[in-house]
Amino acid sequence: MSNDLSDLTCRAPVNDVFKTIYARRSIRDYRPEDVPDHVIRELIKAGTYAPSAVNKQPWRFVVIKDRELMKKLSNRAKELWMEQDVSASNPDIIRLANMIARPDFNIFYNAPLLIMIFAHPDAFSPQIDCALAAENMMLAARSLGIGSCWIGLAAVLGQVREIMNELGVPADCKLMGCLIFGYPSQLDLKAPGREENVILKWIG
Ligand SMILES: Cc1cc2nc3c(=O)[nH]c(=O)nc-3n(C[C@H](O)[C@H](O)[C@H](O)COP(=O)(O)O)c2cc1C
Repeated sequence: MSNDLSDLTCRAPVNDVFKTIYARRSIRDYRPEDVPDHVIRELIKAGTYAPSAVNKQPWRFVVIKDRELMKKLSNRAKELWMEQDVSASNPDIIRLANMIARPDFNIFYNAPLLIMIFAHPDAFSPQIDCALAAENMMLAARSLGIGSCWIGLAAVLGQVREIMNELGVPADCKLMGCLIFGYPSQLDLKAPGREENVILKWIG
């Protein structure tokens, strides 16, 4: 048995779930149309069907459709990033810092919808549970022709209590992830290449 995944993909089962998984891309260019509210609710419902440690279902969501507020949050996140000294950082961080410094750069790519995922304090494994919910939501979105992107650059916002208060987030809920959604300007973007030699060992 080869350790190369390309051996497997040529015999992969083809059904709608696999097709959706392979078709999901991080989308950074959106059409202006809103995602309808009933669809937003269904995406969140899909998130809540993720597995969670000890079935704690710790995810909580803040939905933001107000584009002015999203712009404000983008600017605030950029300020927080720019306050950090990145001169001694690795090339990825320096590249990000240069992108963030561009005045026209919106960390949410002018998407029509931002969903922030918070973890309830009772969570056993908050980051893992919320990341699983996030992936469910991104795959569910793709299955409906809706693009998405996880915006790690927005994580700094979780450190600012006054912003969390403005968003109505209880003090004991922690920001785990920020996802943008919307209808993509361009469909069928090519996936960044995937490393195929990922199986360390196949025993038995
Ligand atoms: C935890 C996490 C944080 C990310 N943060 C950002 C981000 O701030 N901005 C962005 O444009 N993409 C972000 N991404 C998207 C990745 O760049 C993307 O998933 C990766 O390049 C692979 O591309 P694909 O999602 O199209 O397969 C993030 C992804 C993850 C999982």
